[in-house]
Amino acid sequence: METKLYTSVDIQEAAQKIKQGDLIAFPTETVYGLGADATNEAAVQKVYAAKGRPSDNPLIVHVANFSEVAAFVEEIPGVAEKLAQAFWPGPLTLILPIRADSLSAVVTGGLATAAFRQPNQADTLALIRAAGVPLVGPSANTSGKPSPTTAEHVYHDLHGKIAGIIDGGPTAFGLESTVVDLSDVEKGPLILRPGAVTPAEIQAVIGESVPFDQHVVNEAETPKAPGMKYQHYAPSVPVYMIDADQQNWSQAVAWAEQQGEKVGLLATAPTLEKVATKSCQTFALSATEHVQEASQKLFAGLRYFDEPATDVTIVFAETFPNEGFGMAYMNRLQKASGHRFFSEKNL
Ligand code: TXA
Ligand code: MG
Repeated sequence: METKLYTSVDIQEAAQKIKQGDLIAFPTETVYGLGADATNEAAVQKVYAAKGRPSDNPLIVHVANFSEVAAFVEEIPGVAEKLAQAFWPGPLTLILPIRADSLSAVVTGGLATAAFRQPNQADTLALIRAAGVPLVGPSANTSGKPSPTTAEHVYHDLHGKIAGIIDGGPTAFGLESTVVDLSDVEKGPLILRPGAVTPAEIQAVIGESVPFDQHVVNEAETPKAPGMKYQHYAPSVPVYMIDADQQNWSQAVAWAEQQGEKVGLLATAPTLEKVATKSCQTFALSATEHVQEASQKLFAGLRYFDEPATDVTIVFAETFPNEGFGMAYMNRLQKASGHRFFSEKNL
């Protein structure tokens, strides 16, 4: 299959493909999504096949308007309305109990709930409106790779397997949406995945604090966010987190070079300036030390060092305080590094 590259002027043609049951990757403010008609079971099945995604991992339903959620949900909780009003369109996904049989089990993974989001990207909102149906949209990467933040990343992973990609340039946030579970009335709202919308921002809107459900999923129980049980990204080169302090960086680089390792550094420009030696290969996450800026290129950096063209054998990556927006960055970096910090003894 030829994978066509679309831009803003081709939305009608791309929508036509969606209506025919084909797959179109779309840009959002978080990462690129792999779109299919959420009401067409055969089309949704193709999404799992193209990504190589386990079929019990449910998909987010992308809408162009909050009012579209009503078609699937018996009664919209007040808290969902408040959050949508405050953050939609935007990087927040809401999990709600759905009306039986309102969505195919292929979309929900057989759960009694579903995830909804209105993305904040003009071409994609136009695509959903032109298609006339909500779109499922998992991140448009091959399962096990970092989420794509450019059309090139999508092309790299999925060309030949999908009908087209709408190129909206690099995504604004670079990390997937915050996922909030609103389906358990007794427990109250829970953050299942940290993202650009922070716990403090959510609390400011709903008037109560919302915990991040950090608990590590074990084999025997059904995970809250089914996707959390799969190792999201297993880089071909080991990645180690380094504490911000310069001494840790210098020790890590010196140790690795002594071992004959080819070192890759994934860090902000100010850090690279201080710690990179001549033999290090580097990827600058950002010009400044702001976590929001660094997040935008985190996945691109992980992909960069995963390519055979960069022949590094070990990657050291910059950490940020695990709070606010930093929770989203650290959550993804912890997964990529298998939670490992550099320490000579651990290696
Ligand atoms: O920013 C985003 O959310 C991007 C863009 C494209 O919108 N999409 C995205 O989709 O990251 P995906 O499929 O890669 O991640 C969705 C996560 C998965 O971990 C999935 O298991 C979880 O949400 N999820 C979906 N439906 C759920 C449900 N009913 N209950 C619990 N978790 C659910
Ligand atoms: Mg994903």
